[in-house]
Amino acid sequence: MSKNTVEYLKQLEAQSLLGGGQKRIDDQHKKGKLTARERVTILLDEGSFQEMDMLVEHRSSDFGLDKQKFLGDGVVTGTGTIDGRMVCIFSQDFTVFGGSLSEAHGQKICKVMDLAMKVGCPVIGLNDSGGARIQEGVVSLGAYADIFLRNTLASGVVPQISAIMGPCAGGAVYSPAITDFTLMVKNTSYMFVTGPNVVKTVTHEEVTSEELGGALSHATKSGVAHFAAENEIDCLQKIQALFSFIPSNNVDDPPRVQCKDDMNRREAALDSVVPENPNKPYDIKQVIAHVVDDGFFFEVLELFAENIVVGFARLGGMPVGIVANQPNVLAGVLDIDSSKKGARFVRFCDAFNIPLVVFEDVPGFLPGTDQEWRGIITNGAKLLYAFCEATVPKVTVITRKAYGGAYDVMNSKHIRGDFNFAWPSAEIAVMGPKGAAEIIFKREIEIAEDKEKALAEKEKEYREKFANPYLAASRGYIDAVILPSETRPKLISTLRMLENKVDKNPKKKHGNIPL
Ligand code: HXC
Repeated sequence: MSKNTVEYLKQLEAQSLLGGGQKRIDDQHKKGKLTARERVTILLDEGSFQEMDMLVEHRSSDFGLDKQKFLGDGVVTGTGTIDGRMVCIFSQDFTVFGGSLSEAHGQKICKVMDLAMKVGCPVIGLNDSGGARIQEGVVSLGAYADIFLRNTLASGVVPQISAIMGPCAGGAVYSPAITDFTLMVKNTSYMFVTGPNVVKTVTHEEVTSEELGGALSHATKSGVAHFAAENEIDCLQKIQALFSFIPSNNVDDPPRVQCKDDMNRREAALDSVVPENPNKPYDIKQVIAHVVDDGFFFEVLELFAENIVVGFARLGGMPVGIVANQPNVLAGVLDIDSSKKGARFVRFCDAFNIPLVVFEDVPGFLPGTDQEWRGIITNGAKLLYAFCEATVPKVTVITRKAYGGAYDVMNSKHIRGDFNFAWPSAEIAVMGPKGAAEIIFKREIEIAEDKEKALAEKEKEYREKFANPYLAASRGYIDAVILPSETRPKLISTLRMLENKVDKNPKKKHGNIPL
């Protein structure tokens, strides 16, 4: 057939669309996985995908590769829209050399990432790959490094989302790790630096791929996966939901929607949500659900470090990032994992102009040798640093405890909280009344006949003086004490007021966050 004919082009396209061939496509389906192209079709708006480089081939001739060429070389790349908004996408095709990354494959990914940076749109990577193309050796490693560099340079400029929909092993894991959000599919995806065989040789541990690096392991134990999806469709829908809250780039505003929920809605239930007994827990997610538009909260890292809750919601149609202590888990204490989880989320929101709303009920930092020796100091400082450097609108609601250093950390007025509310149930003090009484009235308690009674009295005295919001309010550390039921309208009007907020950090190359 002449290379000038339309048929020739159609034939090439058909060949490219078939990836590694029908048998391998069938094998992919048998594993309960979709193909690279099916995933793109489901994720993007119908008919919006514009493919690039579908005729690219690898250039290797070692190990008989010159006799095995597949148009597109194992990755589908291009642009399209999600809910009408442009994205750049790459989707690795496991049917071609197990989705392994060759020089040409890597160049295709870099090309679409470079385009995203030029036009200011997010990059979505659908990963399903056996890693470096073994036959290409160091050339393939170089191609990975080209991607890592671009991931790093794009960080904070355009949002980057990684879905792991099959294997992702060795150094390949570091691309998703640099991106903003990682989603994994339960049972069919895994991520690890070294697989079960190497683990067995080196540490003598027997572990399956799923246990070592499956979706649930990374969503609950390591915090590497922000979302563990039930299946591939769920994973793609979660990407769409996530994308609905985030702007296309760092100079864009987050996408607003028309608010159908009553902006003046006062929720009477909130007035009784905090228990009378200050040691009794309650669910901060209930508070969030009562306050945000339509009760819809899109939680991030739901299963990891559950003593802090982070995620996206809307208030009056405007996307916000929510950071909340969770009294239901470890009394909402801040520890290493929750500090890191909160810090990374705060930095994402700040990088992409998403206002922060903080619900605070925190008894302090978690004591103990485990936390101290693993560096609660450095790690707790991450959250402090993240809130300090954030210049987006920042609003805090203290629902109950705001004790010690944690009071400062959780977006206090002193670190540029723009509007800090407290409910009447707020307790703002250096420490809990019991601990405080034990220290400052030590002598009086020691000499008292009934020590327990003396402690209880002193505890009451301290609680009345400090464990309320009024001393802080008299200093202006709290801008307003509000009824819990008024929280939604107050937050919406405050965020409206802060819409055009401008704040800046000193000019510098970059700060040195305590990593
Ligand atoms: C070339 C590969 C490949 C690779 C798989 N294939 N991985 N080809 N390079 N890395 C090919 C297989 O030869 C096979 O080709 C097809 O893909 C499907 O592979 P299977 O093994 O049949 O599939 P499955 O049983 O599902 O197992 C998938 C797998 C396994 C677990 C991913 O293929 C595997 O272990 N691959 C090697 C993984 C690896 O060690 N990669 C290097 C990691 S180090 P045919 O023609 O038979 O269909 C790394 C460094 C990155 O990536 C560094 C960055 C800094």
